[in-house]
Amino acid sequence: MDQLSSLLNPSTPQLETSASAALPLPNAARAAMENAHQAWSELPEMAIVKRRLHRERVFAASDDQDTRQPLDLMRTKVGRVMKERSWVTIGVTAPTAKCGTTTIALNLAMGLARLSAQRVIMLDLNFRNPRIGSILGAEPKYPLQELLAGRRPLSQCLLRHGTNLAVGITTGAVCNGADLLMEGSTREAMSLLKRRLMADVIVCDLGPMLAGDDVLAFLPLSDCTLLVVSAGRSRKSEVDVCERDLDAYGNLLGVVMNRVPHRFLR
Ligand SMILES: Nc1ncnc2c1ncn2[C@@H]1O[C@H](COP(=O)(O)OP(=O)(O)O)[C@@H](O)[C@H]1O
Ligand SMILES: [Mg+2]
Repeated sequence: MDQLSSLLNPSTPQLETSASAALPLPNAARAAMENAHQAWSELPEMAIVKRRLHRERVFAASDDQDTRQPLDLMRTKVGRVMKERSWVTIGVTAPTAKCGTTTIALNLAMGLARLSAQRVIMLDLNFRNPRIGSILGAEPKYPLQELLAGRRPLSQCLLRHGTNLAVGITTGAVCNGADLLMEGSTREAMSLLKRRLMADVIVCDLGPMLAGDDVLAFLPLSDCTLLVVSAGRSRKSEVDVCERDLDAYGNLLGVVMNRVPHRFLR
């Protein structure tokens, strides 16, 4: 992912060190931890083939530090800002399709999940063109939309990678994505996910902003958004509209400039 540069808020605070980690947990906190441990262990495990991820430009789980470097930078900046502001849910979108939204969202989730203390959930909320399942080569027993509609439990709709990354995969096109996002059942499912799995970060892969109202419908469910802009593809007028709306209706955490030609990075 050497063609990527992130333009995130530069004034990111230092990560907090947890002095309270050494103190004994109160009973309620211990019970929540045990419940979360149980909920994570009930998620079916999925195997991920690194070669397949590389082909799809998902390098965050790569052993090659140089390849990962710009992605790690983005991961760390996003993680720090979210932790500082106690934000958990982040949506990733772009003005139009093919800017690299899904690629960036997956790299972000997998990069955050490399930190074993972080419990990360990746959700495919691009209902018009879901791609997470085909990139990961995984299929859940039931698609994510069944969980959002309140018809299936977490354990039937999420897959687990390792001990701290859960993935919700949408399969088939969902006709009324914006409507589903605005349903009470979706709000409940999102809050259940956060609570039961004690999620530190929930990364949501969204469709393109200018293609409909799905992203605007999603914003009330999230704490912040990341806007992916593709050099040479995204027009300034499109970026301006997206920035304005993301700021007006939510918290725009930053803009990631993707597909920047090498000559501009020197
Ligand atoms: N920085 C990049 N350089 C080259 N190709 C990229 C880059 N980022 C993404 N791609 C490729 O562009 C295509 C579209 O990316 P994708 O993440 O699916 O976009 P979106 O989700 O915005 O539609 C994919 O084939 C992906 O591998
Ligand atoms: Mg996509």
